[in-house]
Formats: sequence, C-alpha cells, structure tokens
Amino acid sequence: MDKTTTGVRRDLPLIRTPVPGPKAAAIIERDGAVLSPSYTRSYPLVAARGEGAIVEDPDGNRFLDFNAGIAVVATGHCHPKVVQAIQDQAARLIHMSGTDFYYENMVALAEKLAALAPGHCSRGVYFGNSGAEAVEAALKLARYSTGRDKFIAFLGAFHGRTMGALSLTGSKSVQKRGFSPLVPGVTHIPYAYCYRCAYGKQPETCNVECARVIEDRLLKTILPAEEVAGIFVEPIQGEGGYIVPPQKFLDELREIAARHGILLICDEVQAGMGRTGKFWASEHFGLEPDILTVAKGIASGMPLSAMIARAELMTWKPGAHASTFGGNPVCVAAALATVELVEQELADNAARIGAHIRARMQDWPQKYPVVGDVRGLGLMIGVEIVRDRETREPAPDLRDRIVELAFERGLLLLGAGASVVRLSPPLVVTRDQADFAVDTLEECVRQALL
Ligand SMILES: Cc1ncc(COP(=O)(O)O)c(C=O)c1O
Repeated sequence: MDKTTTGVRRDLPLIRTPVPGPKAAAIIERDGAVLSPSYTRSYPLVAARGEGAIVEDPDGNRFLDFNAGIAVVATGHCHPKVVQAIQDQAARLIHMSGTDFYYENMVALAEKLAALAPGHCSRGVYFGNSGAEAVEAALKLARYSTGRDKFIAFLGAFHGRTMGALSLTGSKSVQKRGFSPLVPGVTHIPYAYCYRCAYGKQPETCNVECARVIEDRLLKTILPAEEVAGIFVEPIQGEGGYIVPPQKFLDELREIAARHGILLICDEVQAGMGRTGKFWASEHFGLEPDILTVAKGIASGMPLSAMIARAELMTWKPGAHASTFGGNPVCVAAALATVELVEQELADNAARIGAHIRARMQDWPQKYPVVGDVRGLGLMIGVEIVRDRETREPAPDLRDRIVELAFERGLLLLGAGASVVRLSPPLVVTRDQADFAVDTLEECVRQALL
C-alpha cells in the first residue's frame, strides 16, 4: 500500500476529523454503557479496518499502528496470505476440538514450533488460546513434572491475568488488588533493569546480583531448592518497560536453574515470533529454555498460544490439562502462514527497521532532558521518559501526554512500565513508516516539553 492514483499516500496517517470523530465517539459511548470497565483504554481509538501497519477508524482517519494491537499482528493487519489461509480453512473445518480429536494442521504447527524452539532437544507442544493460558499450562506442567510447588518470578513481569498467571505477574498492583488469595509459593525478585538497578550497580561491573540473589539468598533462606519447580522469566521484559537484560543475567539464571533441577521457563508471549529480529528473543542470548510460552504474534491476531516443553517433561496423563478451543484449526492455519512469513522475511525486516529506528533515536538521551534511555532489540523498542536526566525520576504523566499527542497526529503508541513509551509495530513496517513514527515521536517529545 503506497500511493493512490490521486497521489495521497495510503501507507501513512491521514487525520481528517478531530479524534475521536463523530462515528467513533458514538461507538465509544455505547461501549461505555455495556463493556467491562476493567479494560484499559489509553486513548479513544476505534478501529474499523486495517491493512499492513495502517488502521482506519469509522470516520476515515488513518493511523500508523506502532503497537500492532499490543504486539499481536506480526504480519500486519489482514496480511493477504494470512487472510487467505483463514478463509480457506474456515471453508473446510472451523472446529473439531484438538483436545479430543485429530486434525492435520495442528500436528503440522506443533512439528514446526518444536523444530524452531531454541536448543536441539525434542519438544512437546500444548495449544491454548491466550498468553495467560500458555503460562498457566507451563505452571501446571512444571509442578506436575517436577513434583515441586514453588516458583521464582520477577518484579515488573507480566504473565497474564488468570489466577496462576496473575500469581506470577509482578507488574501493577491494580492487577492484583481485590483478587487474593492467589496461587501460593511465588517469590518475586527484581529484574535485570540496568537503567534502574535495584542493587545500585553498573552493568559493566556488577556481579549480576539480580540473578545471584537466587542462590546466594533465596535458596539458603526461604526457598529450599528441592521445592522450587521453575523460574519464570521474560528474556526481554515487555509490559515492565521493554527492558533488555545483559547476557550474563540470563546465563546465570540458566546455570542456577540447571544446578538445582529447577526448570527455566521463558515467557516469549510478547518477545517471540520474530519481533526482536530473531524468531525467538532467547536466540539473541543463546538461551535454551526448558519450557517456552508463545502467543500474541503467533497467529497474526487470531487467538492462539502454545506452551513448548522439553519432551521428557510432558509426563502428564490424558485429561490432566486441555481446553476446548486450544489449537483451533482456523487459528492454526493463520499461525502456519504467520510462521512462514516471519521465517522467510519478517524477522529480518524487524532487525533491519528496528536498527534504523534505534540509530535515529540514539542521541535522544543527550538531546532531550526527558529521554532517559532508548533501548531494544528489533521492533521491540522502549523510550524511557524521565522528569530529569540526572535523577531518572519516572514521568508517567509526561509519557502519557506524549502518547496522546502522537495519537492526535495519527501515530498509535502505547506505554509500558512506569514511564516508558513502547514501539512495537507490525513486522511488515517499512522504512518510510518508521521515519514517520520517529519524526512524529520526536515532535511529541518536543511538544510535551513546552
Ligand atoms: C510476556 C507476556 N506473557 C503473558 C501475557 C498474557 O497474554 P494474554 O493477554 O494473551 O493472556 C502477556 C500479555 O501482554 C505478555 O506480554
């Protein structure tokens, strides 16, 4: 989608009305009367159609989607190959419950994911419908296969909102308030958030205290190693603020887990599927998880998730865990098309465009006193907004203002963590679109400073 015959570029935003326009405003009003108030809406975008990285609202305003439906539409909105795969499969078989019967494409996708998973061991695959379900399955399998009941997870982590996944989540108190008691036995420790190191260290000289604390403190005091089933970790922390940890953090976790028979469970729900420029974020670190969870981008917007485990961990018996819709054939068809596109071209595009975006923003921490840090891998990029460069005090109000200003200019961004703007466009994003996004974000940062 480049140009129309009239010369107006359809691959870039076009704002025709104040946003939300009248049609969008009417939908928002109806929504407010009937939908759960637990949904978080950062700004009033109403999506009517989408193509590639562009979303159009009912009033004909076009937006550049730099959040990809929260890191979901990996191949962009309505990629023709994904649409075709969905249509073909829907005309053949929509549902047969893969938990009770067999169909070929579920096997094909499981074979593909098992082959792609980092490491050379054989893998078994369980399909669910959401990220939380994949995490829930990982938690249950880890307990079942180890016979242990405790877990270590990280502050800032987001693993989902079902009771097991929520117990592992360490993101925002609003997500937990009012829902206790949660699943017992989860201990949260600080993540390797070097920009805000909980131990006051510098990444170049630290002793990776954020990982060492497990062996040096936890296992010696409150968590007997033989009771710990798993360590849940996002190889790049997503909702926590798009935080890329140092290599030694993940190396250390891998070693500690192996020494004590603890499973290392990598949650790649947000970072997987080519977003970071490699198929899995774990690959950047040579990390071989025992269990891997994937969702979001896996089927370009169709609800599907997978929990991929070392085959010998899959000791659970028929009936132990399943879900009616998990591995739905239409979602699986979308996933097979998505995996092929990501493997063939989109992970490379994510690496290329992501590097271009970061290169363009790398001097922002020097240029703008409110930009504390620019970081990321591939198209998983975080811009840390601060009150003051020296104190590094988070500035959530300023961050929210920047996101809102961008929306008014036709650029869809989202926040993450306390004070981070996240950039997570579809992996099909072009260089021109990336330049538009960087120019617009820069303008919004300047505007927010006024
Ligand atoms: C790393 C991670 N794990 C799990 C989840 C939960 O996924 P879902 O919302 O599909 O349940 C998310 C969602 O943002 C996530 O980012």
